[in-house]
Amino acid sequence: MIDALAGHLAGAASVVALTGAGVSAASGVPTFRDAQTGLWARYQSDGAGHAGGLRPDPQLVRCWYAWRRSLLARVRPNDAHIALAEWPGRMMVITQNVDGLHQRAGSTEVIELHGRLDRDRCSAECGTRTPASAAESPPPCPRCGALMRPDVVWFGKALPEQALSDALAAVRGADCVLSIGTSSLVRPAADLPWEALAAGVPVAEINTEATPLTDQARWSLRGRADQTLPALVAAIRQRRGDHHEP
Ligand code: OAD
Repeated sequence: MIDALAGHLAGAASVVALTGAGVSAASGVPTFRDAQTGLWARYQSDGAGHAGGLRPDPQLVRCWYAWRRSLLARVRPNDAHIALAEWPGRMMVITQNVDGLHQRAGSTEVIELHGRLDRDRCSAECGTRTPASAAESPPPCPRCGALMRPDVVWFGKALPEQALSDALAAVRGADCVLSIGTSSLVRPAADLPWEALAAGVPVAEINTEATPLTDQARWSLRGRADQTLPALVAAIRQRRGDHHEP
């Protein structure tokens, strides 16, 4: 299966990767829906990741994000991030992750659908963004005085419009879309591979488990992203006769 996919990708000019929490799992960032270790299995997401996160308990919300931020400060990109950053050809990454690990690995074309944990933004939507504050209480917006909040998308809230329309254009115009380490459950991100399929773009999936997308994917690679992606990149390079110094 990996050779068949590598054969297609070796001739592809434009590849798009839609990534989810599974891509950062090998870095030690917990996924969301894993039955034992996922964040939603261990924590009630109401009041933290859910809509209206500054209510009902802003302190709880601050603690939840402070904990996730402290975790991120300790983790590093893994071989999955590095393989995408060193992709042999153009690689556009569309990520649901808020950890910034794709950029830290060196990816330059990254669309972030769910925001960034290391930033705050104005809860009154005046447009102000600042580096994440470590203060115990949400600080006031330096421009309008409303409370600042983490610059991430909460459930039930709209995604950044520009990011979503750029992502749609990218998947529709790609030669291949790779859906990697995502449950394919959370819309509208989960719709992107289906949009690609509707536009005639072939889709491959890399995941440790089956998802609602699996049956539609032309190639389904069951395994860890940090192991499968380096193997895939090596197979593409071999097909192309590239020589790469690690
Ligand atoms: P999930 O935690 O829902 O799913 C992670 C997926 O990665 C699952 O399908 C796992 O089987 C797979 N997986 C786990 N480890 C893997 C590995 N090492 N290699 C490959 N696959 C692996 O995470 P997402 O689908 O990314 O949204 O979650 C989507 C959104 O739901 C998140 O961005 C977040 C959450 O609520 C917001 O916070 C807005």
